[in-house]
Amino acid sequence: MRKKRQTEITDVKEAVKKSGLRHIAFIMDGNGRWARKRGMPREFGHIAGCNVMKKIVRYCRDIGIGTYTIYAFSTENIKRPAHEVEAIFKLLVKTVAEARDEENVEFRFIGNIDALGESIAERCHELERESTGGNVRLNIAFNYGGRDEIVRAVNGLIAEGRGSITEQDISASLDTGDSPDPDMIIRTGNELRLSNFLLWQSAYSELYFSDKMWPDFGPEDVDKAVFEFASRSRRWGGVDETEA
Ligand code: IPE
Ligand code: IPE
Ligand code: MG
Repeated sequence: MRKKRQTEITDVKEAVKKSGLRHIAFIMDGNGRWARKRGMPREFGHIAGCNVMKKIVRYCRDIGIGTYTIYAFSTENIKRPAHEVEAIFKLLVKTVAEARDEENVEFRFIGNIDALGESIAERCHELERESTGGNVRLNIAFNYGGRDEIVRAVNGLIAEGRGSITEQDISASLDTGDSPDPDMIIRTGNELRLSNFLLWQSAYSELYFSDKMWPDFGPEDVDKAVFEFASRSRRWGGVDETEA
């Protein structure tokens, strides 16, 4: 039987440190179903979801994670009814502005922000500037699609006149170019897919799925995911050193 690493770890901060967990990415899914179950409009779920987002960001920082990425709005989410899209945009900008005032966090928006129009794009860039120097990094995936990100990166390299490119060139040209690849991707909402999230960066990410809807997700669920991460053997295509 495969020997599990870190089985003795009981303290979550210790688990973060010992397992080398630097970057967690979240697919915050299930807001709509959470609201409908309560007989409320989907927007009600997004409000609850934004509050949980702030709580989780704070908790991850407290347990020593330096980088986190959250999937807030995909390039495909634009297909939703206009009133829902509008509500999400407003809520997101408001929540990020609140987080800027409450936390020492540096934000980066990843995704095709410019396609959202000048006023939203300018507001996002302003929030990024105002958060410069924060001691942890939060990447907010907004109008984000993994395929769109790769195409934009490659087009940028072509525009520079590059004849041949390396994996490192692509990694560095992505919107996440200055973040490490995510060590773990957590998806809530009981769906087992990536839905176009961090397609290049997730090559060796550990995947963790929760059947909880995002508004029900809490620090204790982060702990569970961290302990699970710490117990896994990441082989990167090689051989586990305990078995070699
Ligand atoms: C995630 O929750 C938030 C966004 C995709 C913007 P959903 O809105 O997808 O909620 P469900 O999956 O319909 O319950
Ligand atoms: C993924 O959730 C996008 C975000 C969480 C922002 P979706 O609800 O859009 O994913 P699908 O449609 O179920 O794959
Ligand atoms: Mg969904």
